[in-house]
Amino acid sequence: MAIPKTSKIKPKSRSPIFLLTISISAIALLYLISTLISTTGSTRVLNRNNNHIHRTDSEKFLYWGNRIDCPGKHCDSCAGLGHQESSLRCALEEAIVLQRTFVMPSRMCINPIHNNKGIFHHSDNVSSEEMWAASSCAMDSLYDLDLISNTVPVILDNSKTWFQVMSTSMKLGSRGVAHVEGVSRVDLKESGQYYKILLVNRTASHLSWFMECKDRNNRSAVLLPHSFLPSMAAKKLRDAAEKIISLLGDYDAIHVRRGDILKTRKDRFGVARTLHPHLDRDTRPQFILCRIANWISPGRMLFIASNEKTPNFFSPLSVRYKLAYSSNYSSILDPVIENNYQLFMIERLILAGARKYIKTYKESDTDLSLTDDPKKNTKIWQLPVYTKEGC
Ligand SMILES: *[C@@H]1O[C@H](CO)[C@@H](O)[C@H](O)[C@H]1NC(C)=O
Ligand SMILES: *[C@@H]1O[C@H](CO)[C@@H](O)[C@H](O)[C@H]1NC(C)=O
Ligand SMILES: *[C@@H]1O[C@H](CO)[C@@H](O)[C@H](O)[C@H]1NC(C)=O
Ligand SMILES: *[C@@H]1O[C@H](CO)[C@@H](O)[C@H](O)[C@H]1NC(C)=O
Repeated sequence: MAIPKTSKIKPKSRSPIFLLTISISAIALLYLISTLISTTGSTRVLNRNNNHIHRTDSEKFLYWGNRIDCPGKHCDSCAGLGHQESSLRCALEEAIVLQRTFVMPSRMCINPIHNNKGIFHHSDNVSSEEMWAASSCAMDSLYDLDLISNTVPVILDNSKTWFQVMSTSMKLGSRGVAHVEGVSRVDLKESGQYYKILLVNRTASHLSWFMECKDRNNRSAVLLPHSFLPSMAAKKLRDAAEKIISLLGDYDAIHVRRGDILKTRKDRFGVARTLHPHLDRDTRPQFILCRIANWISPGRMLFIASNEKTPNFFSPLSVRYKLAYSSNYSSILDPVIENNYQLFMIERLILAGARKYIKTYKESDTDLSLTDDPKKNTKIWQLPVYTKEGC
């Protein structure tokens, strides 16, 4: 059964009346199809998140709740998209292991500090829904769900399919839904009792996202690489990144994390201490110049992605390099970007497209990095260091 694609109609040569007629016919046709589907009582649906992947009656679902929080933290204390992605990746991996379609939250919360454009009301009578709308963004504005579905089938929790699954699962009773709080992934996979159940509901607390991901240190249990979700960016974000990459031409890149991760706290003697003692120093322009001299030759185009707020902070690097920032491409970005998560998705693609990419921290043996401080929080608060031999 094929649904005519209305997008193929060329609007310029058509009258508004004609377009209206076509739209009404299309809506009528969709309505007819949906009535046919619901009256046959089948869970098969033609339209997944507006794509056209054929679904089967044997499709089964995995639900993890309606939020994607940071591992072990709620959104308001989460340090950013990368952390929420590690939770999401873990859930997607479980869907792969269980051969189920993952029910993806339709919105992802954004820590207010990462959301420039969010509107924050300070009145008392703002509803929690309004707050949520201002502090979250639509999942499909970040990711290309069809692209993800090529690896792990996903549907959104505001899609028609999901509402049909929920209603079918209620009708099926105990064969419809299993609540599996605390059941391990291995037990879910190996115990026959869950195999045929339409919907596995893993929801516990928001923080359970973290508990499920505990064995990420076991390399053979990791099915999706870190690069998986970054490469699944929504099409308009990928397109914007590609345009910028082609304007940059042959370039190198550095990602300079400053901002919130530089935070210090006073010890009981009133002395400021930090978790990354060399980071503030190593991410300052004079030390960056010194550190990258052997890696990036003079005259190269250098793309800088950073959360540093001080204007012209990195300008001293221009003694040796041609500098570019995402702000140089605001004519491409402004029409596309609604929040910092989208900007970060684009910047990650640009960073990944560089000939040489220098990260803030070393994450694998082959990485080039600005600092030798370990990325992982050591819980040891140390005195910041601002001097360096030879620089
Ligand atoms: C609270 O809501 C009412 C009605 O929705 C509105 O008239 C009023 O201005 C609001 N108060 C504040 C402080 O925003
Ligand atoms: C999944 O479980 C949670 C917590 O037990 C519950 O609040 C939610 O309604 C369940 N959802 C479905 C679709 O079963
Ligand atoms: C690591 O993960 C694999 C695959 O899930 C599993 O078979 C193995 O038992 C795990 N090893 C440890 C030490 O947990
Ligand atoms: C980007 O903008 C800065 C000024 O903010 C300018 O110095 C630099 O040359 C620009 N880079 C490119 C590649 O246009």
